[in-house]
Amino acid sequence: MSDFKNKIIIVTGAGNGIGRGIAKLMAEQGAKVIIATKEDTEGYQVEQDMTAAGYCAKYIQTDVRDEQSVQHMLRTTETEVGNVDVLVNNAGITIFKPLIETTLDDWNKVIDTDLKGVFLCSKYAAQNMIAHKTKGCIINISSNHAYRTLPDTEVYAAAKGGINAMTRSMAISLGKYGIRVNSICPGFTDTHHYQNWLTAKENPEVLEQEIHALHALGSISTPTDIAHMVSFLASDKSRNVTGADFLVDGGLTSRLYYSQKF
Ligand SMILES: NC(=O)c1ccc[n+]([C@@H]2O[C@H](COP(=O)([O-])OP(=O)(O)OC[C@H]3O[C@@H](n4cnc5c(N)ncnc54)[C@H](O)[C@@H]3O)[C@@H](O)[C@H]2O)c1
Repeated sequence: MSDFKNKIIIVTGAGNGIGRGIAKLMAEQGAKVIIATKEDTEGYQVEQDMTAAGYCAKYIQTDVRDEQSVQHMLRTTETEVGNVDVLVNNAGITIFKPLIETTLDDWNKVIDTDLKGVFLCSKYAAQNMIAHKTKGCIINISSNHAYRTLPDTEVYAAAKGGINAMTRSMAISLGKYGIRVNSICPGFTDTHHYQNWLTAKENPEVLEQEIHALHALGSISTPTDIAHMVSFLASDKSRNVTGADFLVDGGLTSRLYYSQKF
């Protein structure tokens, strides 16, 4: 497949999990992928795996919380690879803690990565797109926690709700340049992040069965499921789609509540 031949696609947090899945699928579809992630070991490994498979990928060390790092990533992309067509804001962290134990440091860590990171990367990617008259797109990886959530998730839910609100505002601001902005809201997705969370719980096997049963389609998502939605939103097939949020969660968020009775 070569839907994205010669398109330059930046994926933040592509060193692992959902981001790595997105980077791989987009590269398979012909894109030149920038792996904009924080950890060198992960970044070089993903770059090496992808280039060994014959794909075009470049790791640029990036901390999305740091304005200079984000500017450096965009400048390096422009000078060494070319002008950005698609930005996928995927980098994110999670701290789930009871509200009364959550510290300001916890708040700053999550908001800086999950929300400020989206703002900084979008700002500099949009500058690049506007300067080069690129009718590009920005895709924000939010979460179903922006819609419905659980106890002890206040900071994460606030960050993800903020992403959805910012998506709509950016879509309106950037529409006049032909730049589209959408968000994807994954539910449970099978990454090491999810596995670490699960195995830290009591009776993880029982919990996993319960989680799957909550899904209308009977299972959680894979990173590739999320990547296919990115592929659609980055393509011309979605040419008139902007300012929208897309749940990819197997029907989990549609459920009002769970009962054995019906
Ligand atoms: N896994 C899930 O169940 C799930 C569900 C809903 C939403 N999400 C969202 O999907 C995104 C990816 O989640 P995941 O499960 O793949 O996470 P993950 O922990 O597996 O991967 C996150 C990646 O982001 C990188 N990263 C972290 N902080 C960074 C920073 N400051 N700058 C640059 N890179 C940074 C990490 O090094 C890692 O490579 C996140 O935004 C998360 O909130 C995940």
